[in-house]
Amino acid sequence: MDALHLLEAQRLERQTELDSAKSKIERNQLGQFATPSLLATSMLEQAKRFLPIGKPIRFLDPAIGTGAFYSALLRVFPNDQIAAARGYEIDPHYGEAARLLWRDRRTEIVIGDFTQAPPPEQDDDKYNLVICNPPYVRHHHLLAEAKKRLQAQTAQIIHMRLSGLAGLYVYFIGIAHAWLQEDGIAGWLIPSEFMDVNYGSAVRQYLTAQVTLLEIHRFDPEEVQFDDALVSSVIVWFRKRKPRPNHEVRFSLGGSIDTPRLHQHVSLETLRQERKWTRFPKRPVRTARSIEPRFRDLFEIKRGIATGANDFFIVDTQRIRQYELPSAFLTPILPSPRYLESDEVLADPNGSPLLKRPLWLLNCDLPEDEVAENYPALWHYFQLGAAQGIKDGYLCRHRTVWYAQDKRTPSPFLCTYMGRPSNDRAANPFRFILNHSRAVAPNVYLNIYPNQMLAQALADRPELKHTIWYSLQNIAVEKLVDEGRVYGGGLYKLEPKELGNLPVGELFDWQQEFLPSIPRQVPLF
Ligand SMILES: C[S@@+](CC[C@H](N)C(=O)[O-])C[C@H]1O[C@@H](n2cnc3c(N)ncnc32)[C@H](O)[C@@H]1O
Repeated sequence: MDALHLLEAQRLERQTELDSAKSKIERNQLGQFATPSLLATSMLEQAKRFLPIGKPIRFLDPAIGTGAFYSALLRVFPNDQIAAARGYEIDPHYGEAARLLWRDRRTEIVIGDFTQAPPPEQDDDKYNLVICNPPYVRHHHLLAEAKKRLQAQTAQIIHMRLSGLAGLYVYFIGIAHAWLQEDGIAGWLIPSEFMDVNYGSAVRQYLTAQVTLLEIHRFDPEEVQFDDALVSSVIVWFRKRKPRPNHEVRFSLGGSIDTPRLHQHVSLETLRQERKWTRFPKRPVRTARSIEPRFRDLFEIKRGIATGANDFFIVDTQRIRQYELPSAFLTPILPSPRYLESDEVLADPNGSPLLKRPLWLLNCDLPEDEVAENYPALWHYFQLGAAQGIKDGYLCRHRTVWYAQDKRTPSPFLCTYMGRPSNDRAANPFRFILNHSRAVAPNVYLNIYPNQMLAQALADRPELKHTIWYSLQNIAVEKLVDEGRVYGGGLYKLEPKELGNLPVGELFDWQQEFLPSIPRQVPLF
């Protein structure tokens, strides 16, 4: 084994020790998931193809960890081609270890926050190869102050205001723009989410307007890259140069970076109009159809109730008895889809769902003093919740009274909000439920409320319920997946807006009479 491979073996050993000295929660907070060695090497080999032969390399990894990419850089490029190398690492736990590992090399490892480091002023002092697996820290783990600062910085650097929902990795890309030389190459290993979600639109705009996007390789969600992070990942390559108007981007999927399972070239023009980039390279470019009814023209879709603490607010018969919870504050609620055996929820004459283990939502909007005075048993239960810290949870503390739930009426149709394809349900990750009961639904479902005309028709012709339900169940899986988003491990999610956006032109044969009579212009993007 040569010296560099030996060093890599030592690094991997050290990485395992360092990872196991931390809890998963701690590692999540700073997005500490190392890049597999083989993947880091493939990325550096790919970088080699984008850079002019023999060009001196100024390498930067803004989130270096123990140096997976730096190690690969040393193995892939000749030593005399590496003019400079620098890495940032916020956590000394990894940073000090990296310094020790690479002490005999010319890399400079700065222990500190990359997002707060001042970028070089002169282009020559910047970097022509930025490779990074940035921390996947979700927006709700970013402190409000930090978010504000990051937003201001990216606005200044790439002239874009990033959504408050953007994770830390998005700010890394924006900020690193100031560190990249003109014509320099950047390779980012990031979650694929930005390709589909609303907060990703700024990233998509950046990639199609400010730099020349070269390639996006998406790993197949079923071949998850990181053992311990359930995200589907992409590698995004771009050059810091304004794109030519007729530029095309290579999208690839699955397999390995070198030999992907599928690939396709997509024009920038198409990318600028398409808001779901994960459709490439699997599906054809969409053509704009201006007048086509959408699901939202027939139904209103609302996510189910987010209680803030299901274990506390969703109670079974035993708990009701134990704490003598008053029935006036209990509404039947559906269990999570896992426990819902049938897709048709039948009801007793009172409208209560016929379920093996009925559940109720505890919901009260009376002020605390009134509950204390008039409902001592309920008050006692709320006191227990407060003592457990439920009152201080994110959702509860933003309510006028912490135990009052969102108002949602029961809906006759529901769809599961997320799921995985499973063989016994004809591989459709989403289940459509017909609900005859007055049970409301928790937020693992989408409520599907018929529009006014349809609701009236259902009241007049109850048999229509089944017709509608059958056609919902028959929506082709690809159509739903096309609108929804996919996460690592093949987990699919469908937001209300996404379901609402589903074109229903050819889906339902019963729909014509319930659509608004003058077809309206449907905004496409
Ligand atoms: C996804 S890991 C990647 C580590 C390494 N580059 C690799 O590929 O294996 C991200 C690293 O960024 C570090 N990090 C998190 N926030 C940072 C920040 N603001 N500045 C610099 N490093 C940061 C984490 O501690 C973690 O080691």
